[in-house]
Amino acid sequence: VRAVSAEERARRSQLPVVEFDIELNTAFRRDPTVAFRGALEIGKIFYSTAARGFWVVSSYELIAEILHQPTSFSSREVFNFYRDYLAFRDIPTQLDAPEHVVIRRLIQPYLALASITGVEPAIRKVAQDLIDGLSSQKGCRFNEDFAERLPAIVIMNQLGLPLEFERQAISWNLTVEYPDSSVDFGYEKHRAAAKALEDMWLDIIKDRRAHPQDDWTSKIVNSTIDGRPLDTNTALGLLLVLLRAGFETTAGTLGLSVLHLATHSEDRQLIAGDPAAIPTAVEEFLRCYGGSPIISRIVSGDIDFHGVPMREGDRLVLLLWSANRDPSAFEEPHRVDLLREPNRHLGFGLGAHRCAGMHLARAELRIALEEWHHCIPEYHLGTDNFQYQLSQDIRLTSLPLVFDRTRQRSLATTEGLT
Ligand code: HEM
Repeated sequence: VRAVSAEERARRSQLPVVEFDIELNTAFRRDPTVAFRGALEIGKIFYSTAARGFWVVSSYELIAEILHQPTSFSSREVFNFYRDYLAFRDIPTQLDAPEHVVIRRLIQPYLALASITGVEPAIRKVAQDLIDGLSSQKGCRFNEDFAERLPAIVIMNQLGLPLEFERQAISWNLTVEYPDSSVDFGYEKHRAAAKALEDMWLDIIKDRRAHPQDDWTSKIVNSTIDGRPLDTNTALGLLLVLLRAGFETTAGTLGLSVLHLATHSEDRQLIAGDPAAIPTAVEEFLRCYGGSPIISRIVSGDIDFHGVPMREGDRLVLLLWSANRDPSAFEEPHRVDLLREPNRHLGFGLGAHRCAGMHLARAELRIALEEWHHCIPEYHLGTDNFQYQLSQDIRLTSLPLVFDRTRQRSLATTEGLT
């Protein structure tokens, strides 16, 4: 019996079938919020014919339900849309229980709140040093000069990577994360960057096994699971994810948040005038502009999900940005309200795979916004000639800022912040 395709099943169930194309639709690059709002209007669940086809889920409630059922909705092939799978697995992102639980337990000590509180002074120092280098200028390229550098330097320091790799590591990771299939048809640049990162890590893993240092990498590669040393492939998949997730999503969120602040002077003045408002504002930025707008799952066994006939192997794209704009979950969902409370956003996902680095991300975003607005409280966009880039993650291709007013850091006030 010929298996009925997912598209055919969607049509038979009278669900909308559209071409919802996250990576290639140029309208999405101009204004992705329109796409994610639009998805809510298409339906809670619909089918997209883009990129070999996938179910799209937009509603907060249904996404939460799926993320709480990891046995029915597996992470094993969390995919990117058009590219082939890379040779290595993203770990722990692409693991299901019980392996997933073991690896989460392994990284928990480094990323737990108490551990990140200890890293905060180092984050602040990186932020201050970067801003000191910029505040005498008339403006900057916010992404390249600050938003990408801060989280990259922080995670590289924690992992014990030499900072002379900083630019290279940023560039390789962005190429892996945002392959542009409209330009790089054979994914050659993408594959080359992935291979370069893999080779870099394999050398470092070898080195830290022979000469352990006081960094997360040494601890991870020399750890044991049930008395057995961590194998090289698992260590590689895990370190690749920690480096990429460790900077790229935070950089994206920070860039989009500062775009909002550069174009909404009341919100900028709130942040600059009242640093105590920043933690709540960070949650609203994570709701509206979290750097991971979509995540995905694979259906692990035939299931009728709210009347939708899903079959084993079907792909599912969960639109976190739509869930975070769902009117049944948030009042006035399309308004960016920096004082919004409570704010049960899905910016970090939910359930077993909920972001392992959320405490680090929150600390970086808070400290970045505090330090930046302490020194550079007023700025505007240098040009509005930029686009969004979307894959599983989101970023601005550039964010030129012009500074209207900067102030020298006063030691007393800076100490007040720490
Ligand atoms: C604002 C910044 C960030 C956002 C918006 C974000 C978002 C997310 C989301 C939505 C997931 C869930 C993926 C899924 O369920 O398939 C996730 C997982 C993950 N994130 Fe983050 N993340 C951020 C920062 C970080 C940082 C700084 C780290 C540090 C290393 C990190 C490490 C991870 C890891 C290791 C996972 C995999 C967790 C698992 O599979 O169990 N993230 N992140």
